[in-house]
Formats: sequence, C-alpha cells, structure tokens
Amino acid sequence: MNETRRAILAAIDDGPLSGPELADELDVSRAAVWKHIEALREAGFEIESGPDGYDFAGVTAYNGPAVEYGLDAPFTIEYHDSVGSTNDRARDLASEGAADVAVLADEQTGGRGRLEREWSAPSGGVWVSVVSRPAIAPARAPLYTLAASVAITQAAREAGVDARIKWPNDVVVPIDGTDYRKLAGILTEMEGETGRVEWLTVGIGVNANIDADALPETATSIRAESGDVDRRVFVQRLLEGFDRYRSDLDSVVPAWREHALTLGQRVRIDRPAGDLVGEAIDVTDSGALVVETDDGRETVSAGDCEHL
Ligand code: BTN
Repeated sequence: MNETRRAILAAIDDGPLSGPELADELDVSRAAVWKHIEALREAGFEIESGPDGYDFAGVTAYNGPAVEYGLDAPFTIEYHDSVGSTNDRARDLASEGAADVAVLADEQTGGRGRLEREWSAPSGGVWVSVVSRPAIAPARAPLYTLAASVAITQAAREAGVDARIKWPNDVVVPIDGTDYRKLAGILTEMEGETGRVEWLTVGIGVNANIDADALPETATSIRAESGDVDRRVFVQRLLEGFDRYRSDLDSVVPAWREHALTLGQRVRIDRPAGDLVGEAIDVTDSGALVVETDDGRETVSAGDCEHL
C-alpha cells in the first residue's frame, strides 16, 4: 500500500483528525488528503467523517490493500477478483524477478492441483500463491511445502476447525477412524540449477467460505466445519505463519509432527516404484515419511498416501 495512505490510516486510527490536521502532519496538500481518503474508501476501508474530522472504523474488504494493511509479513499482495491460476501468475512474476509477492484471487477459472489434476476454485475460497527466492539447495525445497501445510493448519485451527496434516501436505479434517475430508491443498513449483533454487512458488488452496455441496464428497470447507471466516484475517494469519516457518526451516518438521494425522496410521503409498504398505512412524528432517513395513523400514520422499 502507498506510504501516505498507510500513514493516514495510522493517524486516524487513534481518533478523528481533520483534513488540515492530516495535511500538516503528513506534509501534503489538503486536496491530496481528500484524494487518498476517497481511494481508501474505494478499497473498502471504512472512514467516517464527523465534526472532528476523519475517523478510521475498520476494514472488512478482501483485496490487496486490505490484506496488506496490518499484515506482519513482508509480502506485497497482488489481488484478482478472478484469474486463471494464481500459480501461473506467480510463475510469470517469479520469472520476471519478483520476490515476496503473494498472488491472491477470489476465484480461479483454471486452478491446478498436484499430478496435473484440476482444482476447483470458486468464489469464496482462499486461493493464493507465494513467490520466494530462498538461498537454499533444491533438496530443502519440500520444507517450504511442509511449512505451508503447518501454516494452513494453524490458521484453520484458529478458525475453529479440527485441521490436521495428511502426509505430505494435504490439510484434512478427520471424520472417524481413518476417514477424513480434504480442506486444503498445496502445489509447489520451482526453478533452479543443481545446488541452488532460483525461485519457488507455493500455491495454497483452502476451501474457506464455500458450501460443502459445491465440493467433491471427499472435501470439506471452513464454512461446513465451523462457519464462515473473515478471509482477510485468515490470509494474514496464513501468510504470517508461512513467513515465520520459511525463515526458520529447522522449526518446520517439529511443528509438522505436532499436527500430523498420518503418524501412527497404517498407510499405502502409491509410488512410481510400486505400492508400499506399512505403519507411518516418523518423518525425516527433510519431510520424507518413514514407514515400518513387513520387510523393514523404508523412507519415502514422494507419493500419494492413503490411510488404511
Ligand atoms: C492439490 O492438493 O492437488 C494441490 C492443490 C493446490 C491448489 C492451489 S489454489 C492456489 C494455487 N493456484 C493453483 O492453480 N493451484 C494452487
């Protein structure tokens, strides 16, 4: 958000100030103050005009300036009412050199899931792709995906949902026994050379304020579990959590273990090398799953996981 607009909001957050007072305080013209106030109102900031001047009453909008306002993480938000795929847009930005940009959309018309599956992304969900340029080896990149799964889980739990992580990075809500419904998914894409990541885009899809009957039977939403969430606040918590974990990669796996649904479960992993069946007993420092099979322990770094 424009610096002057941020300063205006900070100034009128503590009580009303008149146009001339604001102009003095920010060293801009009264006409400029008026223009910025109008632009802020247009972006969804509620600014009341009273006898003592302008007073900031809050923001409930879901757009770039609203999400950036009060966000405690270094992301610029690029918001779209509708876009093909936030991951495609994030990839374009990344290849132009962008860093720390979060592409956010109310709706995606061509959402993509893992393994080239389609990802349904109607209006009301949280669809966001974050561009990072970390100085890490490609082998550490999966930790970014695990970091996102922990951040989503914590934000969903704060919203009252019993969210857990199914290895490697689906966020699900347990039903009973080994059953669960999917709440969120992550699609990470990257560019790099041997030994060095150039950029990473972590695409996060959370079924937020969406009716359950608009989703596949195997999925659920925050609306269905605990009622609608303020998406602006939800995305802020999500991005702040993701930023904390990506800045301290050693903290990711311990936090992941805390929220894991898969550990202790009997699982089948569908791998290119063939199915693996056994008990999931741990994850390694790089997020690979350790499975105790009838023939001994195996470590799996990728594959589709089914709880049996
Ligand atoms: C999966 O579980 O298969 C991953 C789904 C990832 C969906 C998100 S929504 C935001 C971003 N844009 C996309 O097109 N995909 C990811």
